Amino acid sequence: MFPFLPRTTVSALSGLLCLSSIYVASGQSCGCSSIVIPVHVDVLISKDPSDPFGGLKSNASSLRRLNDTYDVFGVFCQPNTASPKNADVIQLLVHGFTYTHQYWSPPTEEFRNYSYSEFACDRGLSSLAIDWVGVGLSSRPANPFDVQYATGAAVLSQLARHLKTASIFPGIQPFKKIIGIGHSAGSIMLTFGAILESAQYPFDGLILTSSLNLDLSTLAPLLGATSARDDTPLRWGALDPNYITTSNRSIFYPTDPTAFSPRMVIFDNFTKDVGSLSTVTQGNITSVTAHYTGHVAKVVGSDDRFFCAGGRCIDVAALNAAERMLWPEAQSFEVVVAQESGHDMNLDFFAKGPFSTFVGFVNQFTAL
Ligand SMILES: *[C@@H]1O[C@H](CO)[C@@H](O)[C@H](O)[C@H]1NC(C)=O
Ligand SMILES: *[C@@H]1O[C@H](CO)[C@@H](O)[C@H](O)[C@H]1NC(C)=O
Ligand SMILES: *[C@@H]1O[C@H](CO)[C@@H](O)[C@H](O)[C@H]1NC(C)=O
Ligand SMILES: *[C@@H]1O[C@H](CO)[C@@H](O)[C@H](O)[C@H]1NC(C)=O
Ligand SMILES: *[C@@H]1O[C@H](CO)[C@@H](O)[C@H](O)[C@H]1NC(C)=O
Ligand SMILES: *[C@@H]1O[C@H](CO)[C@@H](O)[C@H](O)[C@H]1NC(C)=O
Repeated sequence: MFPFLPRTTVSALSGLLCLSSIYVASGQSCGCSSIVIPVHVDVLISKDPSDPFGGLKSNASSLRRLNDTYDVFGVFCQPNTASPKNADVIQLLVHGFTYTHQYWSPPTEEFRNYSYSEFACDRGLSSLAIDWVGVGLSSRPANPFDVQYATGAAVLSQLARHLKTASIFPGIQPFKKIIGIGHSAGSIMLTFGAILESAQYPFDGLILTSSLNLDLSTLAPLLGATSARDDTPLRWGALDPNYITTSNRSIFYPTDPTAFSPRMVIFDNFTKDVGSLSTVTQGNITSVTAHYTGHVAKVVGSDDRFFCAGGRCIDVAALNAAERMLWPEAQSFEVVVAQESGHDMNLDFFAKGPFSTFVGFVNQFTAL
């Protein structure tokens, strides 16, 4: 009923994927296809996987080289008719901890109207929602300590360069502008690359949702993270214990129980994924100044139980001033507090508000 149109896949491994079982919400104005992109990463990561700065402040003797190629799974959605301006633009969508590409498009008809991929597509914008390395349908390194923010950030940079120089599918031109949109730890991943690469970072703009400068390790206890193999032995029994997950998802939703569907929380629990331990221990990355020169927007929910607890997001002007200090060379910078939204702002009843905000920023960041 809703077309899933695998046009082609770029990977030696694509035969292993059961493509037809992947549901992607897409209406008549929009076509979506899955893809696997091999990404080569040659990067220095921390010898200590719990280094709070993820290697950003380390000397050479505290770092080790990671040289590997990973298959990165993604879902590419494209409007059937895009204006010439929008045809040059792609959004790279980066999920957060224990989520997958499905955060941007929950794969059931019931939750179809929570699909940002479809919302954006209906407004003429293409997107590629990927799974982090170690997560979902992307390669999962046997050693979870290979999966650090430095690794994920290198993957995003390589992908962005690929999208700007090569054709993702036959007949689709390389994109001229890329906006990275992250959720939570996905925003930290995008931030890591911006710190490391400054003006060379291939993204034209960043929309960092559900992420403020706050030590993540102090928030980690709220997550109740446990080894994935202990949490769900049937699914993850063979995983290294440093691949972790969370058992209670309520913290991702607003405090007000009428602000979201209880069925979404159940669905969320059944479709959750894993992350590596470093995702929660490398928590001080967001306190490092980024000399990135593109556009930056942060969007946080006023009822985000991690970042806006204790009235932290009430004074929006003060929040803007504090966050802006870490992005001194950004072409533009703004923090938006999405009223009533929770940490998973895409998954509650207010999602359409943030969705409109994201599209507004994408249009603003890519205007000539
Ligand atoms: C490198 O950093 C480590 C850990 O912070 C420290 O113990 C070591 O002394 C440093 N080495 C040099 C040469 O600065
Ligand atoms: C890094 O990996 C690439 C491809 O996987 C390989 O060709 C190259 O020799 C490696 N480099 C080093 C220094 O190991
Ligand atoms: C991490 O950041 C918090 C503040 O956000 C700070 O209190 C803590 O000392 C930092 N940790 C390290 C290792 O710098
Ligand atoms: C999940 O956490 C919330 C608080 O975030 C708590 O109220 C609730 O009882 C917890 N649920 C379970 C099943 O532990
Ligand atoms: C979450 O899903 C698991 C099965 O994967 C189930 O055993 C558990 O009861 C669920 N928890 C909640 C709070 O729904
Ligand atoms: C999706 O539809 C349901 C039921 O019609 C509605 O309650 C919910 O607010 C909608 N969600 C979004 C994100 O629009």
